[in-house]
Amino acid sequence: MERWDRSNGMHMNDETSSGNRYLLAIESTCDETAAAVLTRDGKILGECIATQEELHQAFDGVVPEIAARAHLERILPVIDKAMKQSGISPLDLEAIAVATHPGLPGSLLVGLAAAKGLALAWNKPLVGINHVQAHIYACGLGSAESIFPCVGFVVSGGHTTLYRCESPTQWHYLGGTIDDAAGECFDKVAVMLGLPFPGGPQLSKLAESGNPKAVPFPRPLLDQPSRLEFSFSGLKTAVRYHIGGTGKQDWSQYELTPFQKADIAASFEQAVIDCLIGKSLQAMAATKLRRLCVGGGVAANRRFREQLQSACLSKGIELIVAPKELCTDNAVMGALAWERVDADDFDDLDLDVQPGLLRYRAGTAPI
Ligand code: KG4
Ligand code: ZN
Repeated sequence: MERWDRSNGMHMNDETSSGNRYLLAIESTCDETAAAVLTRDGKILGECIATQEELHQAFDGVVPEIAARAHLERILPVIDKAMKQSGISPLDLEAIAVATHPGLPGSLLVGLAAAKGLALAWNKPLVGINHVQAHIYACGLGSAESIFPCVGFVVSGGHTTLYRCESPTQWHYLGGTIDDAAGECFDKVAVMLGLPFPGGPQLSKLAESGNPKAVPFPRPLLDQPSRLEFSFSGLKTAVRYHIGGTGKQDWSQYELTPFQKADIAASFEQAVIDCLIGKSLQAMAATKLRRLCVGGGVAANRRFREQLQSACLSKGIELIVAPKELCTDNAVMGALAWERVDADDFDDLDLDVQPGLLRYRAGTAPI
């Protein structure tokens, strides 16, 4: 970590005349290439997100090598667009933030290389941030109130993770999935139902017309309150067996009616939601905290949001779910980096990516 020398001649805009402070945030952890220009008081001056869904659809999932190459093509145009939209000069930036962990190694490296290049070219300090923690931080964006202390819960395509969040810089890992993430499980079951990748939102749409009680899928680990862990791989297998036994994985061969598909979707969705809500309530009980903050792609799920809201209401828990547009991957949640910028806590240019989340290492998880 490095203390940024504020007397550096190129660092023009320490205290701008208007009092505004600007940050460029970059996100490329998985298959979204995103950049945003953010002010310290929470305004989004410029934002651009390039998705890659069409590139991965043929493979029913994100192909890391394809993702990295696509990031390479898109990263500079995306940053350029966000910067132009913001109307500010690079000289006015106070720092450059980039998500360095966790994520796909090739994807992370593209974002980090771009951030380092710009930090060097524009002579700006660099801040590497934790993508998962940024998902939780998104819950407080747009509000003057602090979300801390809280239990932070990220439910996304890559993560299903609970933190005890004491302050913006003190995160304690409570537990997470021991196999698939919730969103990953949504996507894999969607494939079984013939839905295109990423299937989570479409499966949830299909579930609207189904009966959530039609198929009694399992709720793994829910009966073990002392384990703040999730396991979705068995649930995925249960859906697979329900559809087609142990047969071939050519899902089109199992001729399900639209009603059967909708019932499977609704029953599966409900099983996931029950696990997510049950475990987050167990985490609230274990930590004795009264505020729960939820982010990540699956937090955009309507039924999950509604049911979690009523569960929290009945337990007297304050619930903050990230705004829908900030649930899936974006660079705006990189506002988390302001917490380190304020403390003059920057990274060196030899900063590296950390693809894995150190999920089994209990205790403090630094941002
Ligand atoms: O946070 P995100 O954009 O990427 C990761 O950090 O992983 O989350 C993407 C995941 C995908 O698995 C997608 O299917 C899921 O979030 N997702 C949903 C919904 N919207 C997105 N899953 C269920 N219901 C939704 N409405
Ligand atoms: Zn994410």
